[in-house]
Amino acid sequence: MNPTFKQMLNSVCVWIDSTALSQFIQNAAWVVPTVQIVHILAIAALMASMLMINLRLVGMGARDQTLAQVSSRFSRVIWWALPVLLLTGAILITGEPARSLKNNIFQLKMLLVIGAILVTLYCTVPLKKNAAHWDGRAGLGKLVALVSVCLWVGIIFAGRWIAYF
Ligand code: HEM
Repeated sequence: MNPTFKQMLNSVCVWIDSTALSQFIQNAAWVVPTVQIVHILAIAALMASMLMINLRLVGMGARDQTLAQVSSRFSRVIWWALPVLLLTGAILITGEPARSLKNNIFQLKMLLVIGAILVTLYCTVPLKKNAAHWDGRAGLGKLVALVSVCLWVGIIFAGRWIAYF
């Protein structure tokens, strides 16, 4: 890592650590477990919705509804779960900034989150204008579904591994 960036990151961690909010999170024993539970509940909602869309994209499950209907129904859950994950993640970072911000696996996780969001947008946004967008693109659809599932599952692995690196 670039030494200037490393120094900046260190200063940011020291500053966050010294704030009243960080001190509160560190001293109130209930905050971190409670926030972790909300983080995990949001993960469950997001993963279930992401799977519903991707399974429908590859023609498995929910075949009584069109892909556009499934996408519209479950995308809403994804776009609600993500801000919850961002907020709860930010609280966890505030409580222990150096543990996550300086962690390579955490940095990888954030890149995977950006990638997964972009793939989800690529899959779902065109369906709003054209419900038949993915019809006749079965090969590409399967690839997009595979990449999407791998990215979201990769985020889960990275999230859990932060504690061990
Ligand atoms: C959107 C921004 C997000 C931020 C800022 C964030 C941040 C964090 C942080 C700081 C931790 C605690 C790591 C530790 O200290 O051990 C964590 C845990 C975790 N995150 Fe996230 N996260 C985000 C999104 C997500 C998403 C989208 C997923 C999966 C779909 C996810 C899955 C996990 C998992 C599985 C854990 C481990 C939970 C545990 O073992 O208690 N996170 N996250």
